[in-house]
Amino acid sequence: MIKIEHLKKEYPNVTPLMDVSTEIRDGDVIAVIGPSGTGKSTLLRCINLLEKPTAGCIWVDGVEITDKKCDINRVRQKMGMVFQSFNLFGHLTVVENIMLSPMDLLGKSKQEAYDEGMRLLRTVGLAEKALNYPDELSGGQKQRIAIARTLAMNPDVILLDEPTSALDPTMVGEVQAVIRELAKTGKTMMIVTHEMNFARAISNRVFYMDEGGIYEDGTPEQVFDHPKREKTRRFVKKLKVLELDIENRDYDFLGMAGQIETYCNKNQIAPKLANRVQLAFEETMRLLLPLLENPQVHAVCEYAQATEHVEWTLCYPGPRQGVSRAHDELAKSVLEGITESVEYSWQEGEQLPNRLSIVIKSMQ
Ligand SMILES: Nc1ncnc2c1ncn2[C@@H]1O[C@H](COP(=O)(O)OP(=O)(O)O)[C@@H](O)[C@H]1O
Ligand SMILES: [Mg+2]
Repeated sequence: MIKIEHLKKEYPNVTPLMDVSTEIRDGDVIAVIGPSGTGKSTLLRCINLLEKPTAGCIWVDGVEITDKKCDINRVRQKMGMVFQSFNLFGHLTVVENIMLSPMDLLGKSKQEAYDEGMRLLRTVGLAEKALNYPDELSGGQKQRIAIARTLAMNPDVILLDEPTSALDPTMVGEVQAVIRELAKTGKTMMIVTHEMNFARAISNRVFYMDEGGIYEDGTPEQVFDHPKREKTRRFVKKLKVLELDIENRDYDFLGMAGQIETYCNKNQIAPKLANRVQLAFEETMRLLLPLLENPQVHAVCEYAQATEHVEWTLCYPGPRQGVSRAHDELAKSVLEGITESVEYSWQEGEQLPNRLSIVIKSMQ
């Protein structure tokens, strides 16, 4: 029902959306995830025309909303937007906040708007607060009211931009519960969120945004459990990444040791584990470099805080070459003592086809 073609949004200093094309089907509940600054809000704001796209087209139910002749207000009525900050009117009671737009924009009578408002307040669990003013409510309650207000316009599509990120942690659950119920009703929804478990629980589809667009699009199982692309994997597994490039045999090993130390400190890797991370790199290089004709190595360290899993991956050019043929027995035994596994594989077609994966033994 929403079709986006070659959408581009450019600001003077940055182009968050370079070339986005996708189709959103009726009833899709899409979790939009990704690092900050990757255009998640911009995408939502372009879809309901709060931002004017620099280029490209958006169709909603066959109507091109990016067409100059299109009635923007009608489009916006079809799309409800829920923001991080709730934007309720402080001088109106809760139920009046909900009644306002249906009366002004949909021409509903006061009674109709009130009845519908009360029904919606019951669905978000706040009927008893109908006559209170927003200031008398907690953040979580305000956001539930804001959701009810959005629903009062009976939009076809609901866009939620980090609806729980301004809330005190104790209030996140009640708002998520309301959104979870909403997601079951078959409404088309797009929700930007940093809470991965929530994203997984409510969505049938996930957009991971990066590099100027939708970098990966798939079911929650695909994106969270079997991401196809590198940056998605790092993001969903919350990996802390260090990349080092060795250009020749006389590489600056002290400088690199310093970088590894900084990386470990920054990510609060426990000293003993950090020591293993350091040693694993040094000993592997000691084994590997003498075997390589062209000693260029791209080394990546990935650390998952939650599980304390640390893994080095070293990729390099040349013919097949693992470390099993190395002769430095001391380095081999040191490496064996601190690693869970050292695996060699060959990645056909890659520029650096040799790949060594080294999993550091955890401290438990
Ligand atoms: N109105 C604006 N003017 C200039 N730059 C903007 C504007 N809105 C967003 N940006 C920039 O566009 C990029 C994407 O922003 P945004 O869509 O808010 O990212 P996200 O929601 O993924 O964190 C950021 O670099 C941001 O600074
Ligand atoms: Mg944002």
